[in-house]
Amino acid sequence: MIKGKFITLEGSEGSGKSTQSALICDYLRKQGKDVVQLREPGGVKISESIRNLLLDVKNEAMSHECETLLYMAARAQIVQETIEPALKSGKIIICDRFLDSTIVYQGCGHGMDIEFIKKLGTFATHGIKPDLTLLFDIEVKEGLSRTNVKKDRIELRPIEYHEKVRRGYLELAEIEPQRIKVIKVDAPKEEIFNRVQVHLDKVVRP
Ligand code: TMP
Repeated sequence: MIKGKFITLEGSEGSGKSTQSALICDYLRKQGKDVVQLREPGGVKISESIRNLLLDVKNEAMSHECETLLYMAARAQIVQETIEPALKSGKIIICDRFLDSTIVYQGCGHGMDIEFIKKLGTFATHGIKPDLTLLFDIEVKEGLSRTNVKKDRIELRPIEYHEKVRRGYLELAEIEPQRIKVIKVDAPKEEIFNRVQVHLDKVVRP
């Protein structure tokens, strides 16, 4: 039986997810909540190794199919090792990216079969779904300009790819408005966090 809460953060490059993830964890820990902060791909040893493979600019030969399966493999491992046990023991998980990322980056971005991704997703996640997904929406060019000078394999993709990712996210939010809350990234981080807090407090009562 799942007792905890599972909150995911999504968004295209440079949308400030990691900053908001840290602010959310601080806010919840100050309330005495038991919080686990994770990121995808990664979060546990095997998944971090897969992350290195995925983001390494030297792996330009990686096929879209291989990439899709590696993101899922990384997810299967973190679900089994950390997410599922933490939820069973009643913890709150704040996870930077989850299955929605594969739907938009590999599905909408690369044209991989979205229904197949969802089926693989159920296999990899044991059917675990976020209670709340915060989608940080930023204009693509502005987001990319906020990323490191040294870009990874995904960030280096053309702007058209990133536009498809952003559109994909906004479409997902339209399909699932109960779960996915769009936060416009057009203000200082404190103001963005105020917007986050409104949704957060409804899922995890202060
Ligand atoms: P990060 O930069 O948010 O840490 O994520 C790593 C990169 O991996 C980012 O460019 C998005 C990409 N990604 C996918 O393409 N598919 C996925 O399923 C996930 C989780 C991330």
